[in-house]
Amino acid sequence: MRRKLIAGNWKMNGSFSANRLLLSEILAGVSTTPACDILVCAPAPYLSQCAEILAKSAVAWGAQDVSAHPHGAFTGEVSAAMLADCACRYVIIGHSERRAYHAESDELTAQKVLQALANNLTPVLCVGETLEQRESGQTNSVVAGQLCAVLDVLDVGQLSRLVIAYEPVWAIGTGKTATPQMAQDVHAFLRQQVTVRDAAAANVVRILYGGSMKPDNAAELLCMADIDGGLIGGAALKSADFLAIVAAV
Ligand code: G3P
Repeated sequence: MRRKLIAGNWKMNGSFSANRLLLSEILAGVSTTPACDILVCAPAPYLSQCAEILAKSAVAWGAQDVSAHPHGAFTGEVSAAMLADCACRYVIIGHSERRAYHAESDELTAQKVLQALANNLTPVLCVGETLEQRESGQTNSVVAGQLCAVLDVLDVGQLSRLVIAYEPVWAIGTGKTATPQMAQDVHAFLRQQVTVRDAAAANVVRILYGGSMKPDNAAELLCMADIDGGLIGGAALKSADFLAIVAAV
């Protein structure tokens, strides 16, 4: 069975003092041998702080984006090598907020995934449909297009190094969580896209659910066969809520 992963996406929130408090509260509430993998993804200026505070703990840290380029004249971008310098182990790629606000294409997302893998970072690839796409029956075609644009550029041996996050856009930050069955149906569909390439890898790949996962709905989501964890936004900024979701595994 796949080990669950509970990941917090802090988005553009935090400060050195607030992060110190949040991380100390999380560390105080996490077992030294937790039942799942735990990850916090902080804004880039705070990754070294995460490394300092979380070193030797059961909590990993990561970034929320990465450049599609290895280095060079790309003002403002952060390379995968730089994230590795901060001892990051994961990086969120293709979040709907970046696809929407920065017109990030499936092709650019795929290049970012390759950069992450080349620097031994685990990509957390976000896919998800808008409410309009769901209501018009396009969910599977949308998430398949987003996922397969990445699968198509990976070697078979790289498939199992991917983490996928299904984040229905209409559930992000809205309090409108997908029902466990709705989420399970898409997760099973996503896993099938990997299975047709390599069944062994498909059984290893973790597929997280993101989109208003909270303490009061986490358990019913996390018990679904193909939901291998959560990618948490708002609830990750409150230590009690984040720890409650970890405890729901
Ligand atoms: O990346 C996770 C995020 O998009 C989910 O946000 O606030 O709905 O948990 P939230």
